[in-house]
Amino acid sequence: MNTVLQTKGLCKTYIVNKPQNNVLKNIDLTITEGEMVAVMGPSGSGKSTLLYCVSGMDRVTAGEVIFNGKETAKLSDKELARLRLDEMGFIFQQMYMMKNLSVLDNIILPVVKSKKNTESRKQTEERGRSLMRRLGIDDVGANDINKVSGGQLQRACICRSMINSPKMIFADEPTGALNRSSSDEVMNELLSLNRDGTTVLCMTHDPKVAAKCSRILYIVDGGIMGEKKMGHFGGGDKELCDRERELNNWLMEQGAGNTCNVAADVALLIENQGKALKKEYLFSSVWGSDSDSEPQTLHVHINRLRQKLGDDPKNAKRLLTVWGVGYKFV
Ligand SMILES: Nc1ncnc2c1ncn2[C@@H]1O[C@H](COP(=O)(O)OP(=O)(O)OP(=O)(O)O)[C@@H](O)[C@H]1O
Ligand SMILES: [Mg+2]
Repeated sequence: MNTVLQTKGLCKTYIVNKPQNNVLKNIDLTITEGEMVAVMGPSGSGKSTLLYCVSGMDRVTAGEVIFNGKETAKLSDKELARLRLDEMGFIFQQMYMMKNLSVLDNIILPVVKSKKNTESRKQTEERGRSLMRRLGIDDVGANDINKVSGGQLQRACICRSMINSPKMIFADEPTGALNRSSSDEVMNELLSLNRDGTTVLCMTHDPKVAAKCSRILYIVDGGIMGEKKMGHFGGGDKELCDRERELNNWLMEQGAGNTCNVAADVALLIENQGKALKKEYLFSSVWGSDSDSEPQTLHVHINRLRQKLGDDPKNAKRLLTVWGVGYKFV
């Protein structure tokens, strides 16, 4: 398989105030054609920075980034912009749509801007509409971007990221602003693009999103701490459930700031606040399944995690928010 993206000793340092902030430290990463890679890690660990650096939106401080055989540091800003336009697609959490353009016009903007474009406007619009049909949003093409739902707008972003048939799609928290069902729809589209051969790199906090990816990297404090190969997701609830559980166990082994903290902190919240928690709900939201779970299994997990993490309740709420894990007290 061909390598699409490679980094060698990638470092990124921000100097805003002293001391300088070494955000990415010596990242060696290789992504081959057809992979769907998720990057997970605590807030502030450097996921977005990594995405900006490997996609040429930001310059690296040291090291190399090679995209599709080209070393990006050697390209001028103009050449980099062209590379991004023609060979990369982007999906962000904040969707960066142009406010004065309709949904359809936003989607076809990368074509209008591309120097490679030889199509007529009509042909481009037809392609835009056909992508929108594929993603089930063809009825909102003429709408203002503030007259559609979050899920529709996110799907419009996917259309826009696809319109130039990119080699690779870069997604930063693509489902971060969405409810579960919109999030599933967006992920299913990304999966289907990936099955058609597009390579995907996706930064996410959500284990349910990462469980659909073929490989997961765990980044802490600007370095890759761990890597898990899951293979391509074939589809189906049972497989997804198994993958989520496997991933959550792996995340637990990674230690800092992952789902295990959520479980431990939820347990502390229950005890500290004296509220009862519907255990099955917690189990399904934290561990991905409720089908074969016994409440005591959860307690075994939580007790083990609490021993490992210590009883420090002060970050509980923040972690729950950061990890966006659904939970409710009843
Ligand atoms: N433009 C910038 N200038 C200075 N520091 C920055 C800049 N962008 C990010 N940082 C710092 O780099 C570190 C990593 O930030 P980054 O946004 O990559 O984290 P992240 O893993 O994407 O976090 P989150 O999960 O919250 O999105 C943080 O300490 C952040 O404050
Ligand atoms: Mg980020």
